[in-house]
Amino acid sequence: VTVDKDPRDPTRFRRERRFTASGRAAFAHLLAHLPRDRGRVLLPAYIGLSPREGSGVYDPVVGAGVPHAFYRVGPDLCADVAHVAALLAEAPAAAVLVIHYFGAAEPALTRIGELAHAHGAVVVEDCAHAIGATADGTPLGDVGDYAVFAIHKLIAAPTGGFLQLNRADVAIGEPPPALAIEPEVLARFHATRWPEVAAARIANYRGLAARVGTIPGVRLFWPELPVGCVPHTLPVLIERADRFAVYGRMRDAGLGVVALYHTLIPPITAGAFPDAHAVSARILNLPIHHEVTPGGLDRLAEGLAGAVRTA
Ligand SMILES: Cc1ncc(COP(=O)(O)O)c(C=O)c1O
Repeated sequence: VTVDKDPRDPTRFRRERRFTASGRAAFAHLLAHLPRDRGRVLLPAYIGLSPREGSGVYDPVVGAGVPHAFYRVGPDLCADVAHVAALLAEAPAAAVLVIHYFGAAEPALTRIGELAHAHGAVVVEDCAHAIGATADGTPLGDVGDYAVFAIHKLIAAPTGGFLQLNRADVAIGEPPPALAIEPEVLARFHATRWPEVAAARIANYRGLAARVGTIPGVRLFWPELPVGCVPHTLPVLIERADRFAVYGRMRDAGLGVVALYHTLIPPITAGAFPDAHAVSARILNLPIHHEVTPGGLDRLAEGLAGAVRTA
């Protein structure tokens, strides 16, 4: 036996990643490579649409022309695993997409993976909101067969995403130029001190949750910050006021709130997916990123309280 003085195998302990211009570019790059004959793609029935941005999840599916169906999610946006199982049993599936909404792990990820694999389908984790988050200590994106990330949603960058490949049976090379990342964004991704970004987001989440959790008519979407979550935003449900009016007032006051998702894509109908529509009608996502200061948290809480009172 000889012993080399240095390691020689570049594939050892390596994460296979293809850096792209966005999360949707990463998903499109994956869909272009999944075998065409395996069946449909199963998607969670909580996917948004905006006039300006389209749908980050659905546009790649429509663009690739792949058949698809939607599985129910509950009022907590967690997957209805029995519905996933029923859809897998009903027709062949190529893939099941699992979305880690707002940076919190889908609790049934492992179970969905087992079900999908038993039916010959792969699992794709959508980590667009979830860089640095974990489930039982494992980074989100390391469990599924593939994972899609969006860099610009977590740090100051105009664009950027990546596709993580956790299996090697389908060869997926670098994306075509139209889907590729800008070198400056790639440099920012690598230069970011991600653990500190995560810590700041968690601290801001806790600070803002303490401030808004007592506002009448506002309910924290998560009663407690889920373990392992690196929050993308602080989601609340507006229970006693018109959410669009609250959103408008806060925007007018210079407070950068969003509503993920105020509008669902048309195939996700209110009749078939009432729980998803109930969330969509009430959700408001408050910024808790690493640049928000304690004074900013105060302003957000005051602004929300005032908007709910008067909307
Ligand atoms: C859950 C989810 N996945 C994927 C995407 C797509 O990400 P990107 O905006 O980087 O294309 C978005 C946002 O549009 C999203 O909210």
